[in-house]
Parts: sequence; C-alpha cells; structure tokens
Amino acid sequence: AEKKMWGGRFAERTAATMEAYSESVSYDHRLYREDIRGSQAHARMLAAQGFLTDDEAVKIVQGLDAVREEIDAGNFEWKVEFEDVHMNVESRLTELIGPLGGKLHTARSRNDQVALDFRLHVAARLEQWDELLHAVVAAFHAQAEDHVETLLPGCTHFQPAQPVSLAHHLLAYCQMFMRDAARVRDCLGRVRVSPLGAAALAGTTHPINPEAVRSDLGLDHVFANSMDAVSDRDFVLEALFCSSMIMAHLSRFCEEIIIWANPNFGFVKLPDAYSTGSSIMPQKKNPDACEIMRGKTGRVYGSLMSMLTVIKGLPMTYNRDLQEDKEPFFDADKTVRMSLEVMAGMLPGLTFVPETMAATMRKGFLNATELADYLAAKGVPFREAHHITGAAVALAEEQGKGLEDLSLSDLQKFSPEIGDDVFDILSYEAAVRRRTSPGGTGPGSVNAQLTAVRQWLAD
Ligand code: ARG
Repeated sequence: AEKKMWGGRFAERTAATMEAYSESVSYDHRLYREDIRGSQAHARMLAAQGFLTDDEAVKIVQGLDAVREEIDAGNFEWKVEFEDVHMNVESRLTELIGPLGGKLHTARSRNDQVALDFRLHVAARLEQWDELLHAVVAAFHAQAEDHVETLLPGCTHFQPAQPVSLAHHLLAYCQMFMRDAARVRDCLGRVRVSPLGAAALAGTTHPINPEAVRSDLGLDHVFANSMDAVSDRDFVLEALFCSSMIMAHLSRFCEEIIIWANPNFGFVKLPDAYSTGSSIMPQKKNPDACEIMRGKTGRVYGSLMSMLTVIKGLPMTYNRDLQEDKEPFFDADKTVRMSLEVMAGMLPGLTFVPETMAATMRKGFLNATELADYLAAKGVPFREAHHITGAAVALAEEQGKGLEDLSLSDLQKFSPEIGDDVFDILSYEAAVRRRTSPGGTGPGSVNAQLTAVRQWLAD
C-alpha cells in the first residue's frame, strides 16, 4: 500500500470508497504544466532566499522537467492514492531525485499551490477566449461588409417593425462580442494574481519572497492577504460569468439563424459543413450547430450556478469544497471554446438571401413609421399622424397591398397633407438611408461602425 504524504498521524488506511470519493487527479491532472511551472518558480525562490543551495534548486527544477516530459509523452502513471495532481507530481519527483524532492514543499501548502495552478490555467484559457472572440467579431464584420445595402425587416416583439441594414444587425453582434472580449481582459487583471506564499492560510515563518515568484511567473500582482489568497475563487466565478455571457450572445444569434433558415422565412441558407440531415426525411437540412450551441448555453449557466452555490456558505479559509471549482470550469471552457470556433467557422458559410428579406417588407408594413413621420414633418401632430397611418394600414391590409401600392387618391382620403412626394418616402431603401441619427441604421453610421470594428480588430 502507498504511504500517504499526510499519513504521519494515521493508523488505518483510507477506505476505498473514500479514496474514490475524494480524489481529484482524474480531472486536475490537466493542471500538471501549471503545477510544475509554479513549483519550479517556488524552488528558484527558495534558493534565492538561501533556503536551498543553487545545486539543490537545479536538481529540483530538472527533476520537474523530467516529470513533465514523462507526462507529455504519456509515460506517467497517475495514482488515485495520491489524490491530486500536486501529490502525484511531487511523489514522482521524489522517486526521481530522492529525499531532496521533499524539500520542495517548504513554506508552501497545497492550498496556495492549487490556487496558483488554477489561476495560471484560467488565465491561459481567458487569453484563448479573447482570441476566439476576435475571430468571431472578424467573421461578423466580414459578413456585415457584404450587406450594408441589404435590407432586413427589423423586429421588435419579433413582429416586423422598421427596415434596417442587415449589416447594422450583424454589427450589433460585433458590439456584444467586443464587450465580451473587454470583460475577459478586465477579468484577467484579477486572475493574474500570485497566491503563492500564503501557505496554508496564515503565511509562513520562513523568509520567503512572494514577489520573486510573481515576477518569475510573469503574473501581475501578489496577494495582499494570505487568508483571502487561499479561499478566493472570485476569479473562477468571474470567468464563468464571462463564459455565460458569451454563450448568451452566441445563443441569441443561433436562435435567429434557426428561424431565418426555416423556409417560411428563407432569409439564410446554411452551409452544408455545419448542418445535418435526417435519417428518415430526405429533404431535411437541419441547423444542428445552432441548436447544439443554444442547448449548451444552459449547461454553461449551470457551471456558473454550481460555483456560486459551492462558495456561498464557506467559512474562511480553504475548504475542500473548493475542489469542486475545477470540473465546472473545465466543462465551461471546453464548451465556450468549441462554440466560438464553430461560430467563427460557420459564419462565413452563411448565405443571406436579400430577395426574401425584401419580399417581406410589404407584408409587415415596415414603412408605416415613414408615413407617420412624413405627416408629422408637414405639421400634423405625431399622435394624429400615427392614427391616420394606422387607418391607411388597415385599408392596405384589407386590399392585400403594401402602403406604397395604395393610390394617391386613396391615401389623400386619410389626410389632405399627403402629396405625391409621399411615394419617395415610402421606399424601404429610403427608410434606411434617411435614418442618419448617430448609431442608427443609415449608411453613414453603418460605415462608421464598420471602420470602428476594423480598427478594434487591428489594435
Ligand atoms: N485537490 C485539492 C483541490 O483541488 C488541492 C488542495 C487540497 N488541500 C487540502 N488541504 N486538502 O482543492
């Protein structure tokens, strides 16, 4: 039987069910690179502080390199008896370099060690999310560039409202994902904190130098309070919130694509590479990528809720409950990275169909606001103009026409203010072109947004 590292005071061996219950190595083994980097920085610091000789530090650092190579090569035997990645790595180090390996854990606890490893891991993943978010913004931007002139029936309440440029719609998503990237970068500032030197909870009697470890690892800050350092998981929660927000934005777009790809809409054609067929219905081309993404969003929210619940009743400082921080994050990380990759891959393959979008304008009376604004500009109080236009819509609907198909004399029955210049403003293109207000759907604003997003991508 393996001897436990903490086994000095124990007479009985751990129950098999307990061992299986408490181990984390089956999933935290993926932190081995971070664990080894952290230990090497710790060993160098111990040497600089005169605690290890330079020769001892070199032996430890090289021994850890050897352990990493074994793991990289798949030649490492992970042992459940050693609970977690930290003790698996350390015990192998000691096998390789002898009792000197046991000096590594001086002035350190697994409590500050695991916090460091996980911070390094979460930080690296956040960097990747940021990159993938850039790819997604670039893909939305590229589609938007092709569709400045394409008219989309803009909706509120998912009812036809006013015509917009399809580019404007796609650029709204650029804003969402740019905010997500900003959130990720901001979060990184609080993740990139070195907790090493907090030891178990109270600091240590050894003359350590946490600042040296921080700078060795290239982190931004050192912990200020050892109790906070070992018990804080805000960084995981913030990252999980970031991932949830990203998924929410992806999911909203997926929902639109699912609707638009339905032939009753026919606004978009899906790329074969991101669709699937049916085993029974030969005509089917299903938007599975979007459906899966919409579904996985719930799962990422679940990770955020799990962690919020895990920490809510924890007294200071480290509690073993905190071991539950890893699986939700690993799962959310995998999901958000794959989702962003799929979205960036699928977007260029979406074929929007401007003709079907244009054909719905008339049915939805998307130029009704234009008529009301036209009357208001002629001095008719807007509330009255609204009412007049409503009556005209009712007539057009009865005749199965658009407002622009009514005759001038029909229109003039509703208001003598209506002249034959009304037909210019009833054009859907004009409705978009005339919306020159800042941030609106007019071409001036859309082109300015395209430039700003391009600039953001270049920075
Ligand atoms: N596997 C543990 C975790 O993930 C490492 C820290 C264990 N610390 C302890 N005092 N048992 O949280």
